[in-house]
Amino acid sequence: MPSIPPLNIPANSAIAQREFLIGVATASFQIEGASKEDGRLPSIWDTYCNEPGRVLHGDTGEVACDHYHRWESDVDLIANLGVDAYRLSVAWPRVMDEKGRPNAKGLDFYKRLLDRLQEKGLQSYVTLYHWDLPQHLQDKGGWANRETAYRFADYAELMARELSGKVTAWATLNEPWCSAYLGYGIGRHAPGITDLRQTTQALHHLLLGHGLALPALQAHDPQSMKGIVCNIGAATPATDSPQDRDAAHLSLTQQNQWVLDPLLLGSYPQDIFRLWPGTEPLVLEGDMKTISTPLDFLGINYYFRTVVQADGHGRYTEAPHDMTVERTQMGWEVYPQGLRDLLIDFRSRYPTLPPIYITENGMASDDSVGDNGVADPQRIRFLERHLMAVNEAMMAGVDVRGYFIWSLMDNFEWAYGYERRFGITHVDYTTQVRTPKHSAQAVQAFLQQRKQA
Ligand code: FCB
Repeated sequence: MPSIPPLNIPANSAIAQREFLIGVATASFQIEGASKEDGRLPSIWDTYCNEPGRVLHGDTGEVACDHYHRWESDVDLIANLGVDAYRLSVAWPRVMDEKGRPNAKGLDFYKRLLDRLQEKGLQSYVTLYHWDLPQHLQDKGGWANRETAYRFADYAELMARELSGKVTAWATLNEPWCSAYLGYGIGRHAPGITDLRQTTQALHHLLLGHGLALPALQAHDPQSMKGIVCNIGAATPATDSPQDRDAAHLSLTQQNQWVLDPLLLGSYPQDIFRLWPGTEPLVLEGDMKTISTPLDFLGINYYFRTVVQADGHGRYTEAPHDMTVERTQMGWEVYPQGLRDLLIDFRSRYPTLPPIYITENGMASDDSVGDNGVADPQRIRFLERHLMAVNEAMMAGVDVRGYFIWSLMDNFEWAYGYERRFGITHVDYTTQVRTPKHSAQAVQAFLQQRKQA
């Protein structure tokens, strides 16, 4: 095995200081498998995977990384990296039955896991909803039905009661934009609906569920931090024309402000309804106040930029790809300055912006195990450049407290199944052997160096 040099990060930068939290992230459906074990109920992603043509190669979450059975050695893997924290999610259909009663076996899994993390000195960042809605709630309309927001708050309360004292920070939702837009707008995620009216209503109910969950978490687990995780995207205009600039504005409104404004300003940006006329959600009195309840932290997931242009109908469309820019296995442009610029922009846009954690950032590449291990030089460079972009935002005054790599290991990448590999650890899905990639070694070496400084 070659020895891999540490991530190239200057020792005097803010992100190289020990107070800056570094972690790795996963999510329940993407790694756990054991989809029918110990009383786990079906989720919308089990249903979606079983519909022909939805997921590449017909892949499912039935086995995934078999983490449900291999969690102990997976915790060792995390501890060996030398990171400060692990971000995971709880599978709602594993811990609660249709009547809202706890499922002890499912809960025990998370209790053991969280206890072990604590023993290893790892902080835990726990997401309550990373997209695996119990199917029985979808059968009643899912997030388009207001009832789901109240069921989510019940679930959050149960988790805070059961797992109190074991969790460093709770995130209510992961990327409500994806749940609403990909799930209800374009049907690329479960439940596979294509209806913009349901999309805006689903987002409203997701955010309402989030706002209702916060006091429940606070009541039963007061010492932990509480927040939410949102994905953000960079968008720049193809040309400097007013039309293209408006296109970029609409794209940013759709990708970012549509979700962040209600959370941080207590209102929806009206331009979202210029883009999608006639889709105003039903908002009841008090909802916006609940949704904009102050947060202890905001989790930000960032991956790429799109270049957009006017479509001639007052909306926007993606400009033809510039073939000279660097892209990942997903076809996503590598654009670290987008993360810096957005963070700096949020600081002026949102007076109540809470402390930020980058809760996901990373890239997919077509990695395989060779004689020298798993060489992923593009990922090493990607991580260095994005960490430095975070550093620049911090230098400009943005309060960023930590950074989580997506992901600890290769896993089920939603509609792309197992083909897209985001891990810093390679997973052989036939044998379930985990092999830390060169990027994992570079991260480990960087963290070791940081500890010794
Ligand atoms: C994010 C998801 C995460 C993972 C990455 C690549 O949108 O939160 O589960 O799939 O993308």
